[in-house]
Amino acid sequence: MSKKQEIVMSGIRPTGFLHLGNYFGAIRNYVKMQEDYDCYFMVADLHSLTTHPDTKQLKDNVHRVLAENIACGLDPDKVALYCQSHVFETAELYLYLNMLAYTGELEKTVTFKDKVRQNPDNINAGLLTYPVLMAADILLHRAKYVPVGKDQEQHLEIARTYVNRFNHRYGEVFPEPFAFNYNQQLVKVPSLDGAGKMSKSENQMATLFLADEDDVIRKKVMKTKTDAGPQELNSQKPEYIENVFSLMKLVSGDDVISKFENDYNNCSIRYGDMKKQLAEDMVQFIAPIRGKINEILNDKKYLAEVMEKGAAKAGISAKATMQLVREAMGLNY
Ligand code: TRP
Repeated sequence: MSKKQEIVMSGIRPTGFLHLGNYFGAIRNYVKMQEDYDCYFMVADLHSLTTHPDTKQLKDNVHRVLAENIACGLDPDKVALYCQSHVFETAELYLYLNMLAYTGELEKTVTFKDKVRQNPDNINAGLLTYPVLMAADILLHRAKYVPVGKDQEQHLEIARTYVNRFNHRYGEVFPEPFAFNYNQQLVKVPSLDGAGKMSKSENQMATLFLADEDDVIRKKVMKTKTDAGPQELNSQKPEYIENVFSLMKLVSGDDVISKFENDYNNCSIRYGDMKKQLAEDMVQFIAPIRGKINEILNDKKYLAEVMEKGAAKAGISAKATMQLVREAMGLNY
């Protein structure tokens, strides 16, 4: 089988406002995969109902996540880019898989236990079966490769369990899906406050969003923690300084980086200048993406077409799989 025929599937939560960590972590990965694989990328709007039953914001959030991914280079003509709720077969497969899912196993899932703790007033069955719905998303396209982060590995393991139960009980229909990412040498996108990685939920001032205006980007970068500079030639960098260099490596030219490396090594570095340079390079990097996002968001007709085309592509693959599933299960009378 050529690589192009191998199937990649992933889901994107429509929680909106992607940041630089998402860009260099997930999206760049998707954009590369679209050249080499048959890709299904889905906005997980149904999953969001497990924790956010209020749907007032949902449409805007779905539009935003689509616009952001497209602005970053995902091409709706190369991949199936669609909404989970537009592919009804998902619900059917979810139903069948629920019969192969044991509640005891689901109760032990780390993400379930976390959500129970965070949200003790809304422990609904959808929350418990979140991994079943995710397995349905993947198996619907008989995908083998699933680009996800570490936090989703347990869900994938659950999906493999259902594959094995299904295949064993009804006959071989599904391949086992595995986590798969390019760039095993992970790109580091540190938070601007020197603590951990950029993330949506933690300090907003320490995270650069693709939607941030130029002045906001400058302000955030200028606040990055530095110090009075090294006192000895060629000294080791403290972690927060290493982080400023890591951020620079994402967006600045090689000449710029080596200039500041040299300045650091001979103790002449001026962090104010370095941060100014970094801020401008970040602006150069983010501004065109932000512009593209806004352009797409203003074109509701285009967004509707993207979703329609994506649902049609995903629907073909989903219908073919469900045909096999019903036959295997003996539901073809
Ligand atoms: N659960 C995933 C997350 O929280 C999103 C998701 C939904 C997903 N369905 C999927 C990921 C299918 C991979 C495959 O990020």
